[in-house]
Parts: sequence; C-alpha cells; structure tokens
Amino acid sequence: MKNIALFGICGKMGRSMLSELILEQDIKIVAGFDRINIGTDIGILTGREISGIKVTDKYEDIKAAKPDLVIDFTGPEVVYKNILWAIESKTNIIVGATGLSKEEIDIVKEKAKKIKSKVFIVPNFSIGAVMMVRLSSLAASYFDNCEIVEMHHDKKKDAPSGTAIATATAINKKKNFNALKFLSDEKETIEGSRGAFSDGIHIHSIRLPGLLAHQSVIFGSKGQTLTIKHDSIDRSSFYAGLIMAIRNIDKLPNFSYGLESLIEI
Ligand SMILES: NC(=O)c1ccc[n+]([C@@H]2O[C@H](COP(=O)([O-])OP(=O)(O)OC[C@H]3O[C@@H](n4cnc5c(N)ncnc54)[C@H](O)[C@@H]3O)[C@@H](O)[C@H]2O)c1
Repeated sequence: MKNIALFGICGKMGRSMLSELILEQDIKIVAGFDRINIGTDIGILTGREISGIKVTDKYEDIKAAKPDLVIDFTGPEVVYKNILWAIESKTNIIVGATGLSKEEIDIVKEKAKKIKSKVFIVPNFSIGAVMMVRLSSLAASYFDNCEIVEMHHDKKKDAPSGTAIATATAINKKKNFNALKFLSDEKETIEGSRGAFSDGIHIHSIRLPGLLAHQSVIFGSKGQTLTIKHDSIDRSSFYAGLIMAIRNIDKLPNFSYGLESLIEI
C-alpha cells in the first residue's frame, strides 16, 4: 500500500486525479494540501462518503499523516517551495505542477543528489505527449528549422507550458536550430510577435476557453513542413502516466525528469 499526500487537491487536476486514485487497491490518500476549502473532507471533493481526511494548508499536518509520496498539482507560485519541503522531509515527490524555471530545476537536481528520497518531475503525464517529444527529436536532424505552438485553456497560469520548454530542450540535444532569437535582418514591429525563445526554438503560447492541452511541433525545410501534433482533450489523458509514475518511482534514481524516464522508446 502506498500512502499519498495530494497537493493542489482542490484544483482541476487534483480533483480529477483524486477521483481515479481513490479507486486503486494499492493506494491510500492520507492527506490533501490546498489553500482553498481548508477543513473540507476530501471525500466531499469527489462526491463520495466522508473519509475523515481534511484539506489542510499546513506542512505539519502533511508530515503527521506520514505519506510515502507527495504528488504536487499546485502551480508555479508554490511548487518549488513544496519540492524543497519534500526534500527536507525526506519524502518522495512526483511533481505534476509546471512553472519551474530551469534554474530551479537545476537546484532541485543538485539537492536531490545528496538525499535518499526521490524527486520525479513530470511536466506532462500523457503518453501521447511523450511520443510527440520523442518523434520530434527524431525528426530534428532532417529539417532546417523548428517552431512550437502550444495551446492551453485560459486558466493556465504559466507560459510557455512545461511541455513546450521540455520539447525544445529535447530537440536541442539533437540539433541547435538558432543561436539567436532574431535573424540579423529580422525586426518585431510589435514586441513578442516572434514568441518566446528557448533552446534555439521559438515557442508561441495560445490561451483560450474551450482548449485543454495541445501542442504542435512544426519543422520546416525547403518546400516542406512536418507537423507533429498532440491533443489532450480530457484530463483523464494524464492518469495512465501518473499511475505509472506512482508505481515505478522507487525504481528511479534520486532525480528524474519526464515520463520518458519510464518508457522505452
Ligand atoms: N504534468 C501534467 O501532465 C499536467 C497536466 C495538467 C496540468 N498540469 C499542471 O498542474 C498544475 C495544476 O493545474 P490545474 O489545472 O489543476 O490548476 P488549478 O488552478 O485548477 O489547481 C491548482 C490548485 O493548487 C492550489 N494552490 C495554488 N497555490 C497554492 C498555494 N500557495 N498553497 C496551497 N495550494 C495552492 C489551488 O488552490 C488549486 O486548488 C498546473 O501547474 C498545471 O500546469 C500538469
């Protein structure tokens, strides 16, 4: 039995994942962390019977529940603090929340080397998105340039998405497409028109109601383009990857990044 503390339990991802996790035989939710609905029984969050476990915003309460594992679906403003707390508390953590800077990830990686517990950062739990990144890094060598368009629901707080940044990093390991954001004769007449720039790749972020999580990686060469596209049309797309991460985190090194750490492709 794995005892889990779910952070961001009252959010869209927290609730969606909770409603599936409580059905698993080998998992027990022992604590729920959030800044809203404090004191609410977590059973009520999924429309089920009272569980006796109440939402808290206090690390002490989480520690007292003795979780084997923290799963974090909070957001950019608190996720880094939560990871550092999990490291200090020697508790394994799977980080689903996005918005960590590269510098923060590097610091976490360094700290994780010196600890016994594990940090597993997974910017995208959907298997299709992992395939999209892998296929993109395969295609990279054969094209002259690449740009990423990511589209998410309008409540997403960070931009560009963690998946877009991770895709650019993966592609850059195969090919560095651009040393600089702008060509020597290129000029933005409206600032931001060419998007963000990460690992030599332009990233364009769209936020609209009606969307969930979508990304196109577009490669271009003389006379042709190749688009590798992935769509998450329902939050259930993230569950298979999450449960895989929960069941396999013990086999991973102290620090791992991306669901591809668990998938042979
Ligand atoms: N890894 C993945 O596959 C994946 C998939 C979808 C979303 N996400 C990420 O998961 C995170 C959550 O997404 P969401 O759509 O559920 O957002 P959301 O805003 O609906 O939920 C976030 C929850 O965290 C809580 N929270 C925020 N700041 C807090 C703080 N300081 N203290 C305590 N609780 C706090 C909020 O109250 C809220 O209930 C985002 O970072 C999002 O990008 C990851």
